[in-house]
Amino acid sequence: MKIIRNPKQMTAWSKEQAVAGGTIGFVPTMGFFHEGHLALMRRAGELADQVVVSLFVNPTQFGPQEDLAAYPRDFDHDQELAVGVGVDVIFAPESEDMYPTGFNTTVTVGEELTDRLCGAVRPGHFAGVATVVSKLFNIVRPDLAVFGEKDFQQLAVIRRMTEDLNLGVEIIGHPIIREQDGLAMSSRNTYLQEAEREAALSLSRALAMARTMTADGERHVESLTAALQKFILSFAGTELDYISFVDQFTLQPVVEVNKDTVLALAVQINGRVRLIDNGFVAGDEK
Ligand code: PAJ
Repeated sequence: MKIIRNPKQMTAWSKEQAVAGGTIGFVPTMGFFHEGHLALMRRAGELADQVVVSLFVNPTQFGPQEDLAAYPRDFDHDQELAVGVGVDVIFAPESEDMYPTGFNTTVTVGEELTDRLCGAVRPGHFAGVATVVSKLFNIVRPDLAVFGEKDFQQLAVIRRMTEDLNLGVEIIGHPIIREQDGLAMSSRNTYLQEAEREAALSLSRALAMARTMTADGERHVESLTAALQKFILSFAGTELDYISFVDQFTLQPVVEVNKDTVLALAVQINGRVRLIDNGFVAGDEK
């Protein structure tokens, strides 16, 4: 496995693959790999000849009060895990190479996709994501890129941007990978103290509860939301960022649940750790 730090060298490598007729599957990440990341890498390997993983804790998608400095990092371990799933290249640029002095361009996707859900509580977050992902696509020049459905709004934003800007990258969504107890895997789970694990389970359990209520005939979002709110707040230390029932394509809120409705949740644990989760509530499992 190659480690490339310089963006120009990364592009040169990708051009060589293209000349040789090989396809590139790309997985953008911020590192501290877990099974969720590794599943995306395996998927990329099934779909393309070469797999490139970027590892870059992107400063522009963190708010001033957020966890940029504390974000977990372990490059050596990440490297071992990536080798284990057959990654060909880790692209790990320095911040100065991604955002050199004078950098002054931002990619923003329309507010109907970016001002709600996580965008409402993290202003500027999706502009940071869209900008870095456009840059990464231009540097790595992949044929396809795999993103997790865990970050369901991010996936919708990337799909929109890729289509609108004719980026020519096929976007593949991958289902959420969970711990045995249902907790969606996340690099941020490492912030959870033992006693907070129970509160963290409020998200996946709320999803299960919404599915049961819907299967039992409750389709009104207002009633479902009230029940879920009560349920989540019954776990010690939980605070709600949002409970939203939205259309999977438009992210617009719905009044009645149907098969295209996604329940998206964001919960703060002890005001320190912010966790998200989501899933379909009616019909097919996501
Ligand atoms: P990061 O949080 O490291 O996530 C990298 C990719 O892994 C994303 O596509 C995310 O949705 C996916 N992922 C994380 N946890 C997952 C899980 N439990 N199951 C399935 N997929 C999971 O998302 C980012 O980084 C950044 O915003 C990035 C796109 C790299 C831009 O900086």
